[in-house]
Amino acid sequence: MYTPYKHEPFTDFTDEKNQQAFTRALETIEKSLGRDYPLVINGEAVTTEDKLVSINPARKEEVIGRVSKATTAHIDQAFQAASIAFESWRYTKPEARAEMLFRAAAIMRRRRHEFSALLVKEAGKPWKEADADTAEAIDFMEYYARQMIELKDGKPINSREGEYNQYVYQPIGVTVSIPPWNFACAIMVGITVAPLVSGNTVLLKPAEPTPVIAAEFVNILHEAGVPKGVVNFVPGDPEAIGDYMVDHPKTSIISFTGSRATGTRIYNRAAVIQENQFHLKRVIIEMGGKDTIVVDSDADLEVAADAVIQSAFGFSGQKCSAGSRVIAHQDVYEELLSIIEERTQRLTVGDPVDFKHYMGPVVNQKAFDKITGYIDIGRREARLVTGGESDDSTGYFIQPTVFADATPDSRIMQEEIFGPVVAFTSAESYEQAIEIANNTEYGLTGAVISRTIEHLEYAKQRFHVGNLYFNRNCTGAIVGYHPFGGFKMSGTDAKAGGPDYLIQHMHPKTVSQML
Ligand code: NAD
Ligand code: ALA
Repeated sequence: MYTPYKHEPFTDFTDEKNQQAFTRALETIEKSLGRDYPLVINGEAVTTEDKLVSINPARKEEVIGRVSKATTAHIDQAFQAASIAFESWRYTKPEARAEMLFRAAAIMRRRRHEFSALLVKEAGKPWKEADADTAEAIDFMEYYARQMIELKDGKPINSREGEYNQYVYQPIGVTVSIPPWNFACAIMVGITVAPLVSGNTVLLKPAEPTPVIAAEFVNILHEAGVPKGVVNFVPGDPEAIGDYMVDHPKTSIISFTGSRATGTRIYNRAAVIQENQFHLKRVIIEMGGKDTIVVDSDADLEVAADAVIQSAFGFSGQKCSAGSRVIAHQDVYEELLSIIEERTQRLTVGDPVDFKHYMGPVVNQKAFDKITGYIDIGRREARLVTGGESDDSTGYFIQPTVFADATPDSRIMQEEIFGPVVAFTSAESYEQAIEIANNTEYGLTGAVISRTIEHLEYAKQRFHVGNLYFNRNCTGAIVGYHPFGGFKMSGTDAKAGGPDYLIQHMHPKTVSQML
């Protein structure tokens, strides 16, 4: 019997023993850098000449690993393997599938610091952020495994005299799982294991900046007993294989998390029926955010400042949930800004192997150029309060940056920057603040800092985001506690880590028999 679900505790890095253990894990990872990683198709390692080279964003010359790239021919082989494996995996008992996730979670838990250390190196995550990413990955496995066991006999429906009715869930088919790099462990694991434990088979195409962590996870799944062909690992150039995977007639489910541009492209293409395709594709599309923190006139400004700093600058703002806009009541606007200015100037930026840095690098040159481009736009559109400097000579470092007096419809208030940049605007009233908060095309996360109960109630009804937080930051959703996902152009609101998530990977079926 398994214990009730509880989220994985975070590591307390103020404890010196934990610091030492993490330092040892970083040393272990250092020794394994630069290795080659194959594709995995039908349980077999396949090595190609052409490689994705994963580098450390804090030290551009450091190679994390070289990962084989799949071609469309490999994708065809992977679909073939996944389709054959589906015919037995779909009938494998849900408890047995869940058990494999429990085992995989246990293996990752034993190697937790190693996985987090790899995230420090491959994604540029500070220790705390890396630790939370690995913890969330373990949570997804533990949570979805239990959810599958709960769903194994379906849900109760009515029966009548002489008639017995059942409502059960069945697997759908081959899933294409396409994660982003920013939760390189958690989201990659979540969107792989949810279809898997539901009885589907998977082609996992990791994000280009972070394929090594995904390769290590696929090894764990096989170590945990997942049969060959059930999960196939097919990294590659999205330009070469992305559309091909989405369009493929054997694709039944697409589980994607990433940008609005890619998400909407996939959504469109998935609707087209291909030759020899006899089903509609299911799509789970989770996209970006332009998330707002509203600060009321009676807010505790220390709580507000904590919320803004964590939301805007945690992992250098590279979260879909990042608080990149603050709308403060005019009565507290200047005071809040000066607290934020002072606190932001104390944040340190540097190589995240060093525990003392609050922020590491951004993920690559493309991200660096995009973010610094938005800082230039911000200088024209608003008043630079602090930050703005950047340096890509050894790694991709950008200082935490605060803009004030941005107009609600300016680009820095409307477009997802995905970097350590936050823009402030003031509102004449609380109601106006909520109105401005809603004026983006996104609807992912938001926070309200207020002591007025009626104002919080007002926000529950009228602040249109999938994850709404009161008197705290707007990042850091925990599996099973804060089911995560957004409305509007933030996605299909599938609510990862929530009670309705798994059933989106299954067909409900009604069986009615006369007695
Ligand atoms: P991205 O869209 O560039 O890439 C995401 C994934 O899509 C990658 O694996 C990439 O290789 C793949 N891809 C790219 N083109 C493709 C194509 N034509 N066909 C199929 N796959 C293709 O996004 P990113 O830069 O990796 O991630 C950052 C974005 O993700 C941000 O917008 C962020 O807000 C969003 N995000 C959303 C959530 C959420 O839960 N809503 C969580 C994390 C990140
Ligand atoms: N689930 C992640 C968060 O809440 C994206 O920050």
